[in-house]
Amino acid sequence: MERLRAAGCVFAEDEATALRSAFESQALATAIAQRIAGTPLEQVLGFTEIGGVRVDLGPGVFVPRARSTAIAETAAARHPDARIAADLGCGAGTLAAILSTRLPAARIVGTEIDPVAAISARRTGERHGFEVAEGSWWSPLPPSWRGRIDLAVAYLPHVPTGELSWIHADFRAHEPDFCVAGGPDGLDPWRAVARDAIGWLAPGSLFVTLVAREQRAEAGRIGEDAGLEIDYEESEDDLLLLASPSGR
Ligand SMILES: C[S@@+](CC[C@H](N)C(=O)[O-])C[C@H]1O[C@@H](n2cnc3c(N)ncnc32)[C@H](O)[C@@H]1O
Repeated sequence: MERLRAAGCVFAEDEATALRSAFESQALATAIAQRIAGTPLEQVLGFTEIGGVRVDLGPGVFVPRARSTAIAETAAARHPDARIAADLGCGAGTLAAILSTRLPAARIVGTEIDPVAAISARRTGERHGFEVAEGSWWSPLPPSWRGRIDLAVAYLPHVPTGELSWIHADFRAHEPDFCVAGGPDGLDPWRAVARDAIGWLAPGSLFVTLVAREQRAEAGRIGEDAGLEIDYEESEDDLLLLASPSGR
């Protein structure tokens, strides 16, 4: 524990307990060395528990944040009758897993462009009962879902690419930039997702994502230009963006 504390781990005692219960002897020594070198605890352990679900997490896969749970919890609470749901850019599958516990009758597919993250997501999906399709945003979803998705969620990369250096160095070193970087104003992924949303969403459906406060006006314009009605909900330092096909 002292070595973890000396390495700057704020919750050194909790981390030492977690590592000791997951690894023994030589494997424990290796795990502690990885952690001291700055690998996020969740990637060292190979899993995390968040929002009441257990998520598998390999090296180099985005570590889910509290923001991940806020998106999924709000989506499930606002559309409890959803039967067809998608988690775009699902990473290790956190949002899809939370939806699966809140909406047990729904069929849920997570999409992910990174084959490494997709491996973790598939393991999470086996435990929580959702499927994973590899490809960009909506494109790998079953074609028969066009116009039928009741609920879609996405924790989109939305950090302006010029501001990546503000992210904690340990995360920068162990999460690929494409997990967080959103182009010059951070909104390129939302532009791509919004552009195709109307073709996939059912009438009366809901799409939930998250943006920074300073992105509010432009994110709203992007959604409205794509034929969506946009609303917002406060979420700690950020805003949840709620989009529905116009005329809901
Ligand atoms: C901010 S992370 C969120 C991951 C996960 N939803 C979570 O909350 O832990 C964004 C995810 O989008 C994925 N991604 C980036 N570009 C993508 C694209 N064009 N299509 C699908 N997924 C993409 C990244 O690989 C990453 O897993």
